[in-house]
Amino acid sequence: PVEERIDLLMAQMTLAEKVGQTHMVANIHPDDDAAEIASGRISSSLYASGATAGNERDAGVLVANIDAAQRHAVEGSRLGIPLLFGRDVIHGHRTVSPIPLGIAASFDADLAEQIGGVAAREAAVDGVAWTFTPMVDISEEPRWGRVAESLGETPVLSGRLAASIVRGFQGDDPSDPDRIAACAKHFAGYGLGAGGRDYDTVSVGENTLRNLHLRPFKAAVDAGVLTLMAAFNDVDGTPMHAHEHLLREVLKDEWGFDGVVVADWNGVGQIVFQGAAADKREAARLAIRAGVDLDMVSGAYLEHLEDLVESGEVELALVDDAVRRVLRLKFRLGLFERPYAGRPGASNAPTPETREIALRAGQAAHVLVKNEGVLPLDASAEAGSVLLTGGFVDDGDALLGTWVLDGRGEEVVTPGDALRERLGDRLTVGDGRFSDVTLMQARASETTVMLLGEHRSRSGEAQSVVDIGLPPGQLEVLRSVAAFGKPLVAVVYTGRPLDLSEVLDLADAVLVVWHPGTEAGNALASVLLGEVEPHGRLPMTFPLSTGHIPTSTHQRPTGRLIRADVDHQEGRYIDALTYPRLPFGLGLSYTSVDYGAPTVSAPTLPLGRTVTLAVTVTNTDERPCRETVQLYFRDPVAEVTRPLVELMDWALVDLAPGEAREVTFDVCAEQAAYVGRDLTTRVDEGEIVLLTGPDSARLQPVSVTVTKKDS
Ligand code: IFM
Repeated sequence: PVEERIDLLMAQMTLAEKVGQTHMVANIHPDDDAAEIASGRISSSLYASGATAGNERDAGVLVANIDAAQRHAVEGSRLGIPLLFGRDVIHGHRTVSPIPLGIAASFDADLAEQIGGVAAREAAVDGVAWTFTPMVDISEEPRWGRVAESLGETPVLSGRLAASIVRGFQGDDPSDPDRIAACAKHFAGYGLGAGGRDYDTVSVGENTLRNLHLRPFKAAVDAGVLTLMAAFNDVDGTPMHAHEHLLREVLKDEWGFDGVVVADWNGVGQIVFQGAAADKREAARLAIRAGVDLDMVSGAYLEHLEDLVESGEVELALVDDAVRRVLRLKFRLGLFERPYAGRPGASNAPTPETREIALRAGQAAHVLVKNEGVLPLDASAEAGSVLLTGGFVDDGDALLGTWVLDGRGEEVVTPGDALRERLGDRLTVGDGRFSDVTLMQARASETTVMLLGEHRSRSGEAQSVVDIGLPPGQLEVLRSVAAFGKPLVAVVYTGRPLDLSEVLDLADAVLVVWHPGTEAGNALASVLLGEVEPHGRLPMTFPLSTGHIPTSTHQRPTGRLIRADVDHQEGRYIDALTYPRLPFGLGLSYTSVDYGAPTVSAPTLPLGRTVTLAVTVTNTDERPCRETVQLYFRDPVAEVTRPLVELMDWALVDLAPGEAREVTFDVCAEQAAYVGRDLTTRVDEGEIVLLTGPDSARLQPVSVTVTKKDS
């Protein structure tokens, strides 16, 4: 019936009204924009904000303004087509969970879905019907600020979490009042910007795109994501907003995506800056042909599409296709039945329940990468004094992370709040600066917990850095404190992999905690004091230094053998070691876990069948733990070069003290499928090496031989 309702509506629409459905504005003000809305010339608003036209892009959401604007559309326009209000609700609305890279560190798909669910409900209360997450750009570039918003460097982790996040936002039925539409972005190749520079040019072949970068988008599409966003970059010379092959032929035709492709901010207009169109009119022609359905704020469609159709330069069918998709989205969201936001009395302030999810997410994002007997801290009242110092002690806002428009710094539980409550008089709280005072306090305290890293504004969009070292000044203080020779814990707040080489040398324990959000302090305190066991895993490789970038699990073999256990490798750098400083998947707990050798249920694996891989993991210590048992594979001979190791699957396993568990994975040959030279997907006969272990650098292999069906 939805398609029939769209047919009925479209049969009545003028060309101008159709073009209106392809035009998104930044903000709407109900009074200033009344006539424009009533004429059917606005489809949607990006920031769902109450800002007056021309104001700064974020003035907060004013539900009354949203509903007043909606009334002009629903009751004042000829066809009553509702407006769609979007907003970047990336890792939380009022209750903020860790940045997406931190969510990825949890390796926990159920948790990711719950985080999406909380964010959706809180945003929906504000009248937001659409958000622009998950970002599934694969990147091995820690200099790029937007890795903070990514779900890590591997397609399987990124794809699986993206699917969960989509389900969290959209639920089974996106027209449910507590659900909103999600948007997988940025299609495609945005993570490949040259040198980690944002918006930069991208040179990549279609084989690499398909084998790596497009896969999480496909996972999001398969999970039912309602919208995708085009990327700012070009791919091999063609701006993505004009990329007919990838947007129309691959995404829409080959994958059957029937949702909306939205431009990024002024992405259509930027085709002109990219030098691939002479003016906005030509940019509009290229973008509508390529398959961009909704023009985000450039105005190119509004200004030129009618004329382009009337002059015969753009076929009406292209505009109709875009309009159909936008209307389909509005129907799927139930906007025709329930256009207004207003839920009198409803609150979206953090509640104990939403804080509990943010706390679990924060804890799961804590990755312990070194511990020489310092953690957990002794929680007893008689234990020694602790100094908590560094830049994040009581700065709630800094802990929220990038792309937080509505979360409030004052609602954040800071590390200072949480540790004061737990440690009482044992705790000295530093002044938050790296100063002489800190040094004197460190000398007087038994243990120092130093909060290092990046403020949230140092990562995110247009926040690339040339050097992934800590911000200036921090290492100097760390060196001085370390010189006292007392137990030293470094906690690293960051939106990207940093060069932690010296931190790892100086501190006795190092926790990488990203930007953890509203429950940052409770998450940290509970991990430091052993109330919960640390169980996060690195979703991106941490290189030895800036000069080692790129370093990732999906490096492919060269003509010279690369061996992880060799310090210097031919063809690599002669002035430095070559392995990663912290490998993908690494994360310690307060216990130690032994891995047995993996076995498979059969040596051969016919296509379409499965073998069961089993590995026994044993908690050899006296504390419980949550172990992320990881399964990788390597395809030694294929039609194209394949990654040295690629994450295939994982299992989260809770182990009691001393417990041994057999963990099993059902593996089918299709999980090792790849795109060959002719760009079609294939699974070859022959050996596949399956590898299990606690991270990508400590793996034990077992081989299976893929054979034809039913052999
Ligand atoms: O959603 C974002 C996108 O990721 C980057 N440019 C702006 C968009 C809307 O705010």
